[in-house]
Amino acid sequence: MILVTGGAGFIGSAFASLTDCLVYDSLTYAGRNSHPRLARGDVRDVRNLERVVRENGVDVIVNFAAETHVDRSIVDPLPFVENNVLGAVSVLEVARRTGCRLLHVSTDEVYGDVEGADESYPLKPSSPYSASKASADLFVLAYVRTYGVDALVVRPSNNYGPRQHPEKFIPKAIIRTLMGMEVPVYGDGRQRRDWIYVEDTASLIMRLVSEGEKGQVYNLPGGHVVSNLELLQILGEVMGREVKVKFVGDRPGHDRVYSMRTKLRYTTTPLREGLRRTVNWYLENRAWWEPLLEDRFVGEVSW
Ligand SMILES: NC(=O)c1ccc[n+]([C@@H]2O[C@H](COP(=O)([O-])OP(=O)(O)OC[C@H]3O[C@@H](n4cnc5c(N)ncnc54)[C@H](O)[C@@H]3O)[C@@H](O)[C@H]2O)c1
Repeated sequence: MILVTGGAGFIGSAFASLTDCLVYDSLTYAGRNSHPRLARGDVRDVRNLERVVRENGVDVIVNFAAETHVDRSIVDPLPFVENNVLGAVSVLEVARRTGCRLLHVSTDEVYGDVEGADESYPLKPSSPYSASKASADLFVLAYVRTYGVDALVVRPSNNYGPRQHPEKFIPKAIIRTLMGMEVPVYGDGRQRRDWIYVEDTASLIMRLVSEGEKGQVYNLPGGHVVSNLELLQILGEVMGREVKVKFVGDRPGHDRVYSMRTKLRYTTTPLREGLRRTVNWYLENRAWWEPLLEDRFVGEVSW
């Protein structure tokens, strides 16, 4: 049985929809996706997590649980250390005690501002979010070495697709454009990101459940590297609407580029096709995202 920690979130829910599994999630503001087999709980609650693992005959944990919004981490870093570092070490502890295999989901942001990072690149995170993710990765590798835990690290690039919280760049741009509002763009908008469609990430991680080797790191780039302005241009074409850009002051420590190489071989959904599916999903699922527009972030609208 696979346990999907953080499976009520964006990528975790896409992964959980691929197989018969159990979801374990503390249902934060970002955990909004239901699942027929959902256990509510915090990954930091080691005793409860261990009980759920044992009672359900779990033999693989795929850990997506994390605080994930870089802007929130800049305003308030401690929850990122608590959920992303202590949370990951708690999952590792349960894997160690129960003998479970663990796939830990990290991010391309751990490499920092770098072009073409392969899996052996040094970690040079720039934000509290990416520093917390890099710290967790180091714990995973330490648990493999010290305790022989059967664990590996997966580092996807920027994901987009259905069921992503409106505070993230692409849903925010889609929703604001649908509402005739401007889309805020940091700095000069020329920061480049590598985009991967969430269903591609989910199926690649599923492949690694059986094929991934203990102690290895696997980059999962989407292979579609564009600047934020180029992304909005393509999105406008896909939506058949003008995307109104509003330049705002840059994010502190903002990385100019994320781009990775990978030792795996695969193809991904073309960016336009993924964006077309994403836009359609947001058009057809207003009831999912409209209530989330109420979420506040340090007194501001978060989207
Ligand atoms: N979205 C991206 O572009 C992207 C890219 C690369 C890597 N990642 C990583 O993938 C993972 C999933 O990202 P996402 O975008 O789906 O995030 P998300 O914010 O949509 O979902 C995170 C989920 O984790 C849950 N969670 C948070 N803290 C928890 C805790 N202490 N215990 C139990 N559950 C907890 C939340 O309730 C939520 O359901 C994260 O680890 C993230 O760092 C995301």
